Amino acid sequence: MHSCARTIPFACFLFLGTHVAQGADEEARRDFHSYANPEHVRVRHIDLYLDVLFDKQVIQGEVVLAIERTSADAKQPLVLDTRGQNIESVEESQDGQEYKKTPFDLGKVDPVLGQSLTVRLPEKVRSVRIKYKTGPRAAALQWLTPAQTADKKYPFLFTQSQAIDARSWIPLQDSPRVRVTYTARVRTPKDLLALMSASNDPAQKRTGDYRFEMKQAIPSYLIALAVGDLEFRKIGPRTGVYAEPKVADRAAKEFTELEEMVRAAEKLYGPYRWDRYDVLVMPPSFPFGGMENPRLTFASPTVLAGDKSLVSLLAHELSHSWSGNLVSNATWSDFWLNEGFTVYLERRIMEAVYGKARADAEAMLGRRSLEREMADLPKSDQVLHIDLKGRTPVDGLTDVPYEKGALFLRHLEAVYGRERLDAFLKGYFNHFAFKSITTAEFAEYLNDHLLKGDAEKAARAKVEEWLYKPGLPSDAPNPTAAALERVQASAHEFAAGKVKATDLPVKDWTPQQWLHFLISLPADLTKDRMRELDDAFALTKSGNSEVLFQWLLLSVQHGFEPAYPRLEGFLTEQGRRKFLKPLYEEMVKTPAGKERALAIYRKARVTYHPLSVDTVDAIVGWK
Ligand code: BES
Ligand code: ZN
Repeated sequence: MHSCARTIPFACFLFLGTHVAQGADEEARRDFHSYANPEHVRVRHIDLYLDVLFDKQVIQGEVVLAIERTSADAKQPLVLDTRGQNIESVEESQDGQEYKKTPFDLGKVDPVLGQSLTVRLPEKVRSVRIKYKTGPRAAALQWLTPAQTADKKYPFLFTQSQAIDARSWIPLQDSPRVRVTYTARVRTPKDLLALMSASNDPAQKRTGDYRFEMKQAIPSYLIALAVGDLEFRKIGPRTGVYAEPKVADRAAKEFTELEEMVRAAEKLYGPYRWDRYDVLVMPPSFPFGGMENPRLTFASPTVLAGDKSLVSLLAHELSHSWSGNLVSNATWSDFWLNEGFTVYLERRIMEAVYGKARADAEAMLGRRSLEREMADLPKSDQVLHIDLKGRTPVDGLTDVPYEKGALFLRHLEAVYGRERLDAFLKGYFNHFAFKSITTAEFAEYLNDHLLKGDAEKAARAKVEEWLYKPGLPSDAPNPTAAALERVQASAHEFAAGKVKATDLPVKDWTPQQWLHFLISLPADLTKDRMRELDDAFALTKSGNSEVLFQWLLLSVQHGFEPAYPRLEGFLTEQGRRKFLKPLYEEMVKTPAGKERALAIYRKARVTYHPLSVDTVDAIVGWK
């Protein structure tokens, strides 16, 4: 029953919309992106046996699923998600010892969701064993040739399960509502190291036969594996970094504050509950900046700027150890619960470790980025609780869940004060620890633990508007940073021809200031002024991936040809979707640009991750 019946009516008017009306809870927990039926039969634990076959680019797998009946209806079958795999056999067991083959049905193929795998089972069956092989284009897997790695000596394999691609390498209930513990035994070539989102021993020798255990229950999108020529560098007592030999020292130097970040987060939100926290620096084709695989964040090497200027990514992925991994979104419509909270936490950690000025600058950049993106988004994509019926979770991957979500928490901070919001968040993480929740469940908890009792403040919180309406409320926080406002003024003076590039006061500019300077330049800047900037500051040669990206984007927008060779280099040497998407989108706006985009893409496509390939295929009209 909804809490409104129990709470004081004046805080309750906020929640009487259709979203959380009685009986809607069940509906809100429906996951349009999974065939699974955890409300009847639920997988609780997974044992994986994986053979990583580099020569065939196949994982040969055996998975044992421990199941539990969650409804009285004993006729309900077990329903799993699978996509593109070869299912060789399904066996059932009552005692986990003796197995016998059992028939199974594969549903019709949906290009996004894959297929349901349905197994009718006697009531007493508790274990199901499936033998399978991954298919040739398993979306979660990227098989890299030695040439695609930093050291160029060994092949590399990594998985990226979020959002709905775990089903392409393991048959399972691929919905974030379903949490499982797991163990794994992974066989690889002897000279490679395997790591998972589970227990990893920093002293592990290379044997080609590795064992893992994840004792905490996690959603399937957090199951992860990486296999490559990897070395470990210690940072703190429970923190460290894995990377290819060539990158390992550089990564350890960039990430020296990792342990401090964990301590800062614990001080704010309670104990880190996952034992070790390590970071794995990925090969350059990794399609994201970072991925919060529990105990082992995967990070793009594009964050190794050399000056720690992009380490907010670590603060971000670390924060997911509370928001996302401890308390997870129940469906992909609730994705903002993961990312919005995480961006808010990220900035709090940045403030604690690197100071308020830096955190404010990043918050200001965040809000500006949100405004720019939202200007082009349909209203329905501007809401935190997004309707994804008939769409893929990737469609929800905009600044809205991230930056609007973070602004909402910042707004609550403004209304209730830091102390109360901190206490609320700590309580929230404890209350929902190891659970997956919907936006409505969050709203109910918020009502009960922060809003109720003070009608005036509750009205100012505007929860209904923040969660379910497009755009930003008129009193949304507008973070500002003096350092950025100064460079914004410089950008305007430069653009108006009042100062020369060489007279700009760039001496102590941080990368954040450079970013804001570039973003603040007007659309009608001439090529000569672009050249003037490049002559003065060698932006085309910037070693900071974010600054370089902004500069290259400007270069395409302004037809600044001297940057094109670097543009081609950047698009072929790394595969981060966030960098690829805007650059290709900008290029295809003109016929000549489209030619150039295709010429680059023809070469680069084989180096990109399947997710980035999907994105760029659509942009350039690849057939
Ligand atoms: N969990 C996300 C990455 C993700 C989201 C992968 C949805 C697949 C589907 C990760 O925590 C993230 O947000 N990464 C950002 C980092 C940034 C906001 C600091 C990225 O990769 O750009
Ligand atoms: Zn995130």
